[in-house]
Amino acid sequence: MFLEKQNPAEESKMLEINLNFENLNEEQIYADLLVNLGTLFPDSDFVISVLSNFTAMLKQSFGKISWVGFYFVNQDYLHLGPFQGKIACTQIKIGSGVCGTSAQEKKTVIVENANKFPGHIACDSDSKSEIVVPIVHEGLLLGVLDIDSYRYSAFGETDKKYLEKMIAFLTPKINRSLKLN
Ligand code: SME
Repeated sequence: MFLEKQNPAEESKMLEINLNFENLNEEQIYADLLVNLGTLFPDSDFVISVLSNFTAMLKQSFGKISWVGFYFVNQDYLHLGPFQGKIACTQIKIGSGVCGTSAQEKKTVIVENANKFPGHIACDSDSKSEIVVPIVHEGLLLGVLDIDSYRYSAFGETDKKYLEKMIAFLTPKINRSLKLN
């Protein structure tokens, strides 16, 4: 990955990022992204900007991702946040579908075949597999990160390991910046 800061704190602020992961396997890509999170997403940046670019970073880095986005908790529902991909469900009841199950159990859920997951909510009928990582701060649910693929069994333990670390990095910022729960 190549990073270059442009116009820091002037009229506009952006990072030029060359996400060139040729010849790297998925674990190496995740490891590269993980060590650069602090540079990519400085604490001073607005939370919605951070989360928007975070979803773009994942979508750009992994061809297997068809949709990636956040849902945030409000009372008994999860509400759509920053995402990359097709228009999606705006509201999911906690306990419903893959997102609602992960939110209820506060555990990462990996679905190898979406058609076989009871109650799977098909925002995109081409979606075949999915991983949902809960965002939990001091035991309180803040939301989930949801990632879909058009391939069956696209996600496994490597995705879980690195996505949970990335969410752990973002959680304090989300907790501080968004009024949830
Ligand atoms: N499939 C999810 C719904 C969200 S969309 O995939 C973006 C679920 O079952 O919770």
